[in-house]
Amino acid sequence: MSEDGEAKTDDFEGTRKDQNDMRNAPDTTSKDVRIRRLASTDRNEAKPIAKLGALAWGRCPQVADVHGRAARLEQEIAALNPNAKALFVAEESEKLIGFCRIIRDGSNASHWWLAGIEVHPENRRCGIGRSLVQAGIDHARTRGVTVLRSETHITNQTSIRFHECVGFENDGPFTASDGNKKIAFSLEVR
Ligand SMILES: CC(C)(COP(=O)(O)OP(=O)(O)OC[C@H]1O[C@@H](n2cnc3c(N)ncnc32)[C@H](O)[C@@H]1OP(=O)(O)O)[C@@H](O)C(=O)NCCC(=O)NCCS
Repeated sequence: MSEDGEAKTDDFEGTRKDQNDMRNAPDTTSKDVRIRRLASTDRNEAKPIAKLGALAWGRCPQVADVHGRAARLEQEIAALNPNAKALFVAEESEKLIGFCRIIRDGSNASHWWLAGIEVHPENRRCGIGRSLVQAGIDHARTRGVTVLRSETHITNQTSIRFHECVGFENDGPFTASDGNKKIAFSLEVR
């Protein structure tokens, strides 16, 4: 058991095909890929996740600061509360190749957000992003969540296609408070 009183990890290895087939997608994830939810004791995952972020986003300046991001992630992991947030990693032979975060929408316990998803460039189009989202949906369902929301930059065509393909509704464009043009998404959790 972890500090938060739950099983240390939710291990989705080999269970993906047993889950209610997300939007009838074929399972293309390698059987060697393991998806697991991080526990608050998993602080040593902070650096690999930060490195993955830099790789996933190329030269994007906000995440190029691997050191800073690792430090923030370490604090985030240490403070994990599965009733308000869950972080998932995809691992292949101990190597971290994917990451995603879901968080509760403030005090609205039935609405959560997909707040970050990254897959290593060498491991894309293999169903890892899809499996990470499915793990998030499965966790959200256990918390009584009815809607998972997300948003992405209007220029991030890969992300837009990805959201649509894994079952999100495209709720259209909007201008965020920082002035960026984005697309809003929502997914009914059943
Ligand atoms: C978006 C991202 C997480 C997708 O991860 P992934 O593991 O490659 O996604 P999957 O293999 O599970 O793809 C699921 C479906 O999404 C669609 N999709 C994913 N990448 C796509 C692309 N480059 N072009 C078109 N469709 C794509 C496909 O329909 C795919 O299914 P298919 O391969 O059977 O056709 C990954 O590209 C990434 O890390 N991008 C950089 C970070 C980012 O933009 N994150 C999202 C910010 S909100």
